[in-house]
Amino acid sequence: MVFLDLIEKKRDGGELSATEIDEMIGLYIGGDIADYQMSSFLMAVMWRGLTNAETATLTQTMAESGARFDFSNLLEPKVDKHSTGGVGDKVSLLLAPLAATCGCIVPMISGRGLGHTGGTLDKLESIPGFRVDLGHDEFRKQLEAIGVAMGSQTKELVPADRKLYELRSLTATIPETGLITASILSKKIAEGTESLVLDVKTGSGAFMQRLDDARQLADRLHQIAILSGLLCSILITEMDQPLGCTVGNSLEVREAIAVLSGDAERSTDLKELTLELTTEMLVLSGLSESHPHGLRLAQQALDSGKALERLGELIEAQGGNPRIIDNIGLLPQSPHTTVVTAPYEGWVACIDARLIGDATVALGAGRTQRSDSLDPAAGIELHAKCGQWVSHNEPWATLYHGPGADLERATMKLKAALSISPDKPAAIHLVKERRP
Ligand code: URA
Repeated sequence: MVFLDLIEKKRDGGELSATEIDEMIGLYIGGDIADYQMSSFLMAVMWRGLTNAETATLTQTMAESGARFDFSNLLEPKVDKHSTGGVGDKVSLLLAPLAATCGCIVPMISGRGLGHTGGTLDKLESIPGFRVDLGHDEFRKQLEAIGVAMGSQTKELVPADRKLYELRSLTATIPETGLITASILSKKIAEGTESLVLDVKTGSGAFMQRLDDARQLADRLHQIAILSGLLCSILITEMDQPLGCTVGNSLEVREAIAVLSGDAERSTDLKELTLELTTEMLVLSGLSESHPHGLRLAQQALDSGKALERLGELIEAQGGNPRIIDNIGLLPQSPHTTVVTAPYEGWVACIDARLIGDATVALGAGRTQRSDSLDPAAGIELHAKCGQWVSHNEPWATLYHGPGADLERATMKLKAALSISPDKPAAIHLVKERRP
């Protein structure tokens, strides 16, 4: 195969055959296609797209590019949730132990944050001692013991996605539906889940900013999941403002613990979405006969404190200090805080999630390149959200920062994110649509 021919074919709008895709992935992970050529191919895909047939083959080939987890010896339903990425999206930290408490087996392979969106692995690693590099046996034993394990892609698991995702993130070739679909589903197939709830985000802080693009992605994900033998249910959810009231790794762990402890007063959107997605998991996996029944189960598991206990067990099983669930002071703390106040009074009409994400990156809570190191305690706490009234000079956000922060840039982005209006904005609906 001459790879240049495939680049030309895609550039000119052609469709690659299954054999061509198989060979291309094999050669790329073997180091026989250079990154500059693959970058050119990916950019051609950005413009021309991938057909359903190409996406299905790419998904399967990537899933088979390394080892695959097999938890078929476990009898309970294996079900996972994946979000396409957002700002302040810490749902997995709450949902994984919550769903396990309700009887699901949750083998969750998560990603790291890059650019303005956060990553579950970075949040988990802000817990002192927490390990995410679990091997197959560790994963299996933990699932047998507590029903939930949260790890990273290992060197063995879906190496094709590891390499391609890194290149896509550096070449502005992330937001193409076929590529996103293959990237997400290949990992989910390889982690051994049977069913999958997908949270496709739309809004300023999402990869798919327009609802129509989110719909296209949702439908593609659904089609390819079904073709790949995964049961799948999809919600399109709102990502115009950050989810919850914190953005930044240990701040988000703190908020997740607060909600699981029953203190959700300031995090109603986070609690609502977590319960909604957990309910989807229960219904999809057959653990619940209906949405109202599933919602009751999830709500009880949360209110009883059992999901919080399960989070403690998860943290302990993966090497972290489980006492953080009773004492959040054990999480990393920032040496400095800066309070930002409202420039005038009015209703908060918009808090642009993309700009908040950029501000947290400037504080050191996120990366612009894979190799960047993170400040686990850095981030932003929002004291007001859309639809709330703020008075002139009232604090609406606090920045948490350490020595590496670019405070000037972070403050500039933060201030630009806030829009205040004399008119009360319409209420936000978190779940915009269910697809298909
Ligand atoms: N999340 C993934 O795992 N892959 C993508 O391509 C985008 C979001």
